[in-house]
Amino acid sequence: MPAGLLGIEELNRSDIEQVLARAKDFQQVQAQPVKKYDLLRGKMIVNLFFESSTRTRTSFEIAAKRLGADAVSITAAGSSVSKGESLVDTLNTLGAMRPDAIVMRHAASGAPHFLARYLPTPIINAGDGTHEHPTQALLDARTILDHRPTLEGLKVAIIGDIAHSRVARSNMYLLSKFGAHVVLCGPPTLLPRELGRLAPNVSLTYDMDEAIRDADVIMMLRVQLERQHETPFPPGEYFGFYGLRLEHVGAAKPDVLVMHPGPINRGRELSSEVADSQRSVILNQVENGVAVRMAVLERVLNQ
Ligand code: NCD
Repeated sequence: MPAGLLGIEELNRSDIEQVLARAKDFQQVQAQPVKKYDLLRGKMIVNLFFESSTRTRTSFEIAAKRLGADAVSITAAGSSVSKGESLVDTLNTLGAMRPDAIVMRHAASGAPHFLARYLPTPIINAGDGTHEHPTQALLDARTILDHRPTLEGLKVAIIGDIAHSRVARSNMYLLSKFGAHVVLCGPPTLLPRELGRLAPNVSLTYDMDEAIRDADVIMMLRVQLERQHETPFPPGEYFGFYGLRLEHVGAAKPDVLVMHPGPINRGRELSSEVADSQRSVILNQVENGVAVRMAVLERVLNQ
């Protein structure tokens, strides 16, 4: 695995398998009364978030602390970024304090890749624009594999705002490396045709019933209004065409897994009944986020 973790695209199957196997060890820690290890004692991790986050930021921080490392979290709003400091200057400033890794989320696609070329500190990408969100795809794979023996041959429907989704891209790269078939589905304005060429084993449809038919996994995505500069569809109509309801779930395989990276918008991309149903593994994804990030931090920091 490269020094930090910038994306799934550049990982090979064995890198991914090793992280997922280690995350399985760490899952057990979550059930123990004392959830702390000593594996990264003396290490310092800086979380630098230029975009909003609940799950990703908190779980990186918890993961670092459970491994015995120290962690500080900085948000752009409360930092000198709001006083006009450039990205490079901010990162150099933090780098001068000698952290062992920087976890960063930024609205610009490629920002962590650019910085990784200049900074000696390993960078872990916690989401860059519409490009990649590698730890999300890893925790999604961990969650699927908690319920299925293999990813090979699974039909995974990813539905919603594909155009703006780094979660969709990272999942496409990962799932197709392991022989799953990915069906991307959304309104034409949010489903650029070229995305079907990003990875092998990916197809596209605008028809939700077709996407869901016989699916093993349905992954719903939020409509990311913060990345849209014009309204790509009439807002009130979205749920009618692309919102996941119980009747849809009935058309998939009986043991289908309903996933969502969060934050969910009930009544917008999925109904409350689906979000709270037996088929939903949304909170399992959150739980696995800690175990997977422990595995990633351990790997990056022990290199
Ligand atoms: C996603 C993100 O930020 O890319 N959330 C997350 O990390 N769990 C998806 C989203 O914001 O819709």
